[in-house]
Amino acid sequence: MIAVATISALLTRPGIAQPARGDIPFSPELWQDSGPIAPIPQPPRADPRKLALGERLFGDARLSADERLSCASCHDLTTNGAYPGQRQSEGIKHLDIPTVFNAALSYRLTWEGNTRSLSEQARASIADPSGMHSGIEEAVSKLRADRDLNEAFRAAYGAPLNSESVLDALATFEESLLTPGSRFDRWLQGDAAALTPDEIQGYRRFNELGCSSCHQGVSVGANLVTRQGIFVPLVLSGPRQVRVPSLRNVEATAPYFHDGSAPTLEDAVQRMAAAQLDRILSDDQVASLVAFLKTLTGNFRGKPVASSAP
Ligand code: HEC
Ligand code: HEC
Repeated sequence: MIAVATISALLTRPGIAQPARGDIPFSPELWQDSGPIAPIPQPPRADPRKLALGERLFGDARLSADERLSCASCHDLTTNGAYPGQRQSEGIKHLDIPTVFNAALSYRLTWEGNTRSLSEQARASIADPSGMHSGIEEAVSKLRADRDLNEAFRAAYGAPLNSESVLDALATFEESLLTPGSRFDRWLQGDAAALTPDEIQGYRRFNELGCSSCHQGVSVGANLVTRQGIFVPLVLSGPRQVRVPSLRNVEATAPYFHDGSAPTLEDAVQRMAAAQLDRILSDDQVASLVAFLKTLTGNFRGKPVASSAP
């Protein structure tokens, strides 16, 4: 995490930094030494039984009051980890649905950064009145009626299924939802041919313009909370303070912003520059930034993260 007070110091960082070399496990200091962005690590090792239970629960509609919604209904793991099959996702509370991919690497969760851990977020998601509209206790009492599931929980946790183990299984599974192996990360790790000269130029601009003063770290964002527009409001309604979103897999997660009001990356980048940096970018600058952003698409289960747009 970075204190907001250091933003101005970061804005004056020298342009492109030395990429890291070798297959490096994530360390929070890495970007300070080698550039503003660190590669996504491989998922942590976890008990396969807990992982399997978490995956099962992620797709289980019994977690919602009317048994119609599972986590996967809104966070589609076969595409981008966000809302499936729709460009302008309706979300809940009129919020665009963020991807669950790499959420485990964020210092806080949700657009406003309201929750601090995956299990706290899972509890909130199950309770959300405009979503699953249930509660962890209600969900647990339904799941307890399932003998198979109970036995699997007893085997994995050594105790009957309860709210703690349900939330832990979900969080354990979500920790595995990382997307390493993007072209940008391969370049950071020393594969000079992974990026084209245009894309490297885009990365240089991203640093020089000051985008990386907010979008940095392993998630290219998701490690500080700031105003949604430093110079002018980005949108007039909604929260004024938001967590800087991660730009990992951003090519696949249109539409953009907390209200889903930017349909394309080009539009999002142009509006960002105006709101956060007080700059109007040329078409060339926008194209080059977008070329860089498209190198941030990683892999999940061996396949590139894909857009859910029809
Ligand atoms: C009805 C759609 C819907 C369902 C169902 C749903 N979510 Fe979400 N999820 C959202 C929305 C919308 C947000 C953003 C909420 C906010 O910003 O306040 C979100 C945010 C999240 C985040 C934070 C992502 C980030 O980068 O900040 C995680 C993690 C998450 N959900 C996991 C889950 C889990 C686990 C479940 C099942 C228990 C679940 N969600 C069910 C819509 C949904
Ligand atoms: C002062 C901090 C700051 C700076 C500088 C900044 N951003 Fe952002 N960026 C944000 C915040 C905050 C949001 C979320 C705004 C919202 O949705 O309300 C965001 C959102 C985005 C999004 C949309 C992500 C999504 O999933 O919805 C893109 C793309 C983006 N920024 C790219 C850039 C680029 C390119 C630059 C440089 C030209 C830049 N940003 C500079 C803070 C910043």
